[in-house]
Amino acid sequence: MAGNPFDNQKVMSNVKNIILVGSGKGGVGKSTVSCNLAVALKKCGRNVGIMDADIYGPSIPRMMGALQQSPEIQENKKITPITRYGVKMMSMGFLIEEDSAVVWRGPMLFKAIEQFFSDVEWGELDDLVIDLPPGTGDVALTIAQKMKVQGAVIVTTPQNMALIDAKKAVDMFNQVKVPLLGVVENMAPFTPAGASEPITLFPKGDLDTYLTANNIKKLSSIPFNPSVGLNSEAGVPIVEGQPDSEQAQSFMQLAKNIAGF
Ligand SMILES: Nc1ncnc2c1ncn2[C@@H]1O[C@H](COP(=O)(O)OP(=O)(O)OP(=O)(O)O)[C@@H](O)[C@H]1O
Ligand SMILES: [Mg+2]
Repeated sequence: MAGNPFDNQKVMSNVKNIILVGSGKGGVGKSTVSCNLAVALKKCGRNVGIMDADIYGPSIPRMMGALQQSPEIQENKKITPITRYGVKMMSMGFLIEEDSAVVWRGPMLFKAIEQFFSDVEWGELDDLVIDLPPGTGDVALTIAQKMKVQGAVIVTTPQNMALIDAKKAVDMFNQVKVPLLGVVENMAPFTPAGASEPITLFPKGDLDTYLTANNIKKLSSIPFNPSVGLNSEAGVPIVEGQPDSEQAQSFMQLAKNIAGF
């Protein structure tokens, strides 16, 4: 009889914390949060890496200003990660053209992720932030079965429509036995300069009530602000590009909460 699938988890001797960033829904800001969290952790004085586990739609090279970079393959076949803003990175985007599709079967995809752990020269890291793809939990499950993961961060937007998916993500991480560090509320209301009223992109839902009832921490609330997206497009995460902005500060708060675990 097969044993517990979580019995064979490896501990990466050189990486203290593996942190998964996921959601139940696409487009809520996982990659944006992953990049800014990684740079913010670096600014807190930690050694940080970011792994782009979105093999089909890698965003990290663009968001970190590292398009068209090819990592060096050493003689021993180990891959030297690309470094930006002091953060070491690995992404399928470094191995294929940005606009070409990866047409792979599941097992090949999982092999690629496995190699991101075993063949990349990460060095000594405090935190390895992993940007998960949207969709079902198969990548999270693959990682959780292979590696000892310190915890997961769920990204959601404020409205009830998104809460349903956030609950699924909570359930998914429970099923794959990954401890939940907490939830990031992204695209929260923001007040433009000179305005007296905040702009509410999404109606406020029952997220807070749900989190309190289930004893889940809200790690940070990141306001919606076009500058967050503009900075990502330009390849400079806002934590690096506009460190004094309210948005950057909310990412720093997230990093401080994570670093405290
Ligand atoms: N707080 C924010 N304010 C403004 N724009 C944001 C914010 N967070 C994310 N965005 C923008 O929303 C879009 C989706 O973000 P992102 O790619 O990070 O989401 P994702 O969850 O990783 O998507 P996918 O599920 O496709 O991987 C991007 O254009 C990004 O710049
Ligand atoms: Mg993404």
